[in-house]
Amino acid sequence: MINVGVGQADFKVGHSGTNLEIIQTLLDEAAQKQVDVLVLPELANSGYAFASMDEAAALAEEVPTGPVCRALQAWSQPGRMVVSGLCQKSGPVLYNSAVAFSGGELLAVYHKIHLFSNESKWFQPGQQPAPVLPFRQYLVGIMVCFDWVFPEMARSLALRGAQIILHPANLVLPFCQQAMITRSIENRVFTATANRCGQERELYFSGLSQITAPNGSLLVQADEENSGVFCADIDPDAAENKWITALNHVLNDRRPDLYI
Ligand code: ACM
Repeated sequence: MINVGVGQADFKVGHSGTNLEIIQTLLDEAAQKQVDVLVLPELANSGYAFASMDEAAALAEEVPTGPVCRALQAWSQPGRMVVSGLCQKSGPVLYNSAVAFSGGELLAVYHKIHLFSNESKWFQPGQQPAPVLPFRQYLVGIMVCFDWVFPEMARSLALRGAQIILHPANLVLPFCQQAMITRSIENRVFTATANRCGQERELYFSGLSQITAPNGSLLVQADEENSGVFCADIDPDAAENKWITALNHVLNDRRPDLYI
């Protein structure tokens, strides 16, 4: 069993120092709640609704030397894992990234491959598949926010053995929380979506961070407005059972030869 937590907060675009303080508050709460695997929202260091490329670039940080990465690394030291969305500066370009730290090490950096709306003005799209990573004897997959609308993403992670999908998000469309229940059922995996709340410029974020189980049940869900860390104890091995009926296996019964 592991204790999974999703951190929900109202980050502030343009205020890196404030966002670092908010992240540290979530990390402290997660430590106090004995979370083993923590997910934080998309672009947690920067906020989301940039007004210009210059603003986005000024708020980005390098991996793994930036201040938010250092805080995440320190938190992960005692055998924990944290996955956070991050506005990443990499040479001359920016990525909408998710970084994964475990045991004090940087395990992976995922560059979001499906950019939403204005994001393509600021970020380069990722060119590599989303990672599946070990945590203890388990496997976790990562995707970022709008990746939810492409069911191939969760399916690809499940096919590569992910038992939990860790999902930093800044959701503005109203459908994702319901869709992640479907992603759970159709792949028989856990999902953990850490979302923003609050408003930035013209955008409202929907909160309702949640953790779902392979049978589609909602293990925990935040409300629309309040910040905090919301946790559930899960047995990732429950995701090994891919039978949706006694005779139907959600991975082996696929017909990829007919999906044209
Ligand atoms: C989103 O991908 N931030 C909606």
